[in-house]
Amino acid sequence: MNRSGESQKDEQKQKDIRQSNIIAAKAVADAIRTSLGPRGMDKMIQKGDGEVMITNDGATILSEIQVFHPTAKMLVELSKSQDIEAGDGTTTVCVLAGSLLSCCQDLLEKGIHPMAIADAFYDAKAKAAEVLKEMSLPVDLTARSTLIDAVTTCLSSKVVSQNADVLAPMAVDAVLGVLNANQAVGKDLNNIDLSEIKLVKQLGGTVDDTELVNGLVFEKGLKKTAGGPTRIENAKIGLIQFHLSAPKTDLENNVVVSDYAAMDRLLREERKHILGICKKIKKAGCSVLLIQKSILRDAYNDLSLHFLSKMDIMVIADVERNDIEYISKSLGCLPVAHVDSFTADKLGSASLVEEVPAPGGGDPVVKCTGLPNPEGKITLLMRGSNKLVLDEADRSMHDALCVMRSLVKERFIIAGGGAAEIEIAVKLMDWSKSQTGMKAYCIRAYAEAMEVVPYTLAENAGMNPIALVTELRNKHSEGESGSGMNVRRGTISDMYREHVIQPLLVSMSAISLATECVTMILKIDDVVSVM
Ligand SMILES: Nc1ncnc2c1ncn2[C@@H]1O[C@H](COP(=O)(O)OP(=O)(O)OP(=O)(O)O)[C@@H](O)[C@H]1O
Ligand SMILES: [Mg+2]
Repeated sequence: MNRSGESQKDEQKQKDIRQSNIIAAKAVADAIRTSLGPRGMDKMIQKGDGEVMITNDGATILSEIQVFHPTAKMLVELSKSQDIEAGDGTTTVCVLAGSLLSCCQDLLEKGIHPMAIADAFYDAKAKAAEVLKEMSLPVDLTARSTLIDAVTTCLSSKVVSQNADVLAPMAVDAVLGVLNANQAVGKDLNNIDLSEIKLVKQLGGTVDDTELVNGLVFEKGLKKTAGGPTRIENAKIGLIQFHLSAPKTDLENNVVVSDYAAMDRLLREERKHILGICKKIKKAGCSVLLIQKSILRDAYNDLSLHFLSKMDIMVIADVERNDIEYISKSLGCLPVAHVDSFTADKLGSASLVEEVPAPGGGDPVVKCTGLPNPEGKITLLMRGSNKLVLDEADRSMHDALCVMRSLVKERFIIAGGGAAEIEIAVKLMDWSKSQTGMKAYCIRAYAEAMEVVPYTLAENAGMNPIALVTELRNKHSEGESGSGMNVRRGTISDMYREHVIQPLLVSMSAISLATECVTMILKIDDVVSVM
């Protein structure tokens, strides 16, 4: 009697914990539901330091908001995983997880054991993957227009959707360019390292002024005193890691100068020292000098800049330590750590190095083009009229490149606009009829949960979600697997004809990651804090 009472109390606690976990995670999912799709809203995020950002990217929104509940944090991690795995679909994955969690709530209330739900969900996930694979179409990387369509779909839900016709072809060309370069050196053609494509932001102009540069772009611009060169053809480029300033002693000490003669001597010495270094640089035949950023002391000073510009040497300072390897590989130069080893054979080359002003004012950048091995040296020079737009354009471009990477990894596309999710729902419903008992019940609930994507797309676009999702379901049972929400016209139409397509990998990974996360949350029956 006593024992059974105890056990029941325990069970009640487990239920409460599960309930609160689900509610916390769902709250996060609901928070970003409104930003799904081309008609989704954007979020303005104000950080603690007063900085403001506007974004539509699910992963970015979630990484910025502060959540405390441990399962709510799991949703944040979920969207991060999707960002790493596929790059796009970070909102979808959370919306799906939220919807699966609410259907879990119903199932738990009906008294179904969490393990039974988890098992059924695993099977449903496997089946969903099959359905997706079945409805996908193979895509060839030579079909440029199809690739552009897929990237445009990704960009259409961003703040910069108006500029998709400029940005999408650029993302496609950039990835194909790197892929061609990889092919030439015999690298793996089924993946691509996106860090090979540099994104450089320049404030000024509009997003439409964004350009693809076959070469390097230095964001920081030139360091010059009056009269230094701003354009150099057939440049010989040196990359130095030593300093062009007066040396410091090892120990902290002060020199007290009490008369003019001593001061003069000191200045003369400094002048001589720096001039000596500059002369050696000039002697090696260097015409463009890259200086690594230094934290120990000033890597350059006014005096050295003055000498270098007198010698017609262009100076680009503050090169990040992390970029040194990429730069030296691209330009064919070797980083030099001491002036004595600065010789002509260490220099790299470029046919043109020039300072490019921003279209509408703003800080100039430096472009290096005509590199020794130009293949795959691609920089996307992003432009925008203000920092908010520019940053969001940069994030959107990252998503666009990720879509291309997904297509390189797995060369299949599927219809967007909720077509994939509704197809899964319809097929799983059919399949559940061949299952028995509790499992069939859970699979049906899983299938219904998938409908959240077309439902939300319609809702966000101000359409009637219930009527349209029902119609969509009918269309799919009749075999029209390409039908989806046409949010522009407020109707249902064939998504392939509307050119709304997305990579298979994005949807595949969204569904499997969301299911995994939900089953993980389901299986938790206690939260133990250890301080
Ligand atoms: N023109 C369109 N018509 C209908 N649906 C579209 C269209 N363009 C995109 N979609 C749909 O919008 C959804 C993607 O929306 P969104 O880009 O806001 O979220 P996400 O890709 O999940 O997350 P994020 O881009 O923030 O990482 C997909 O389901 C896609 O099929
Ligand atoms: Mg997207």
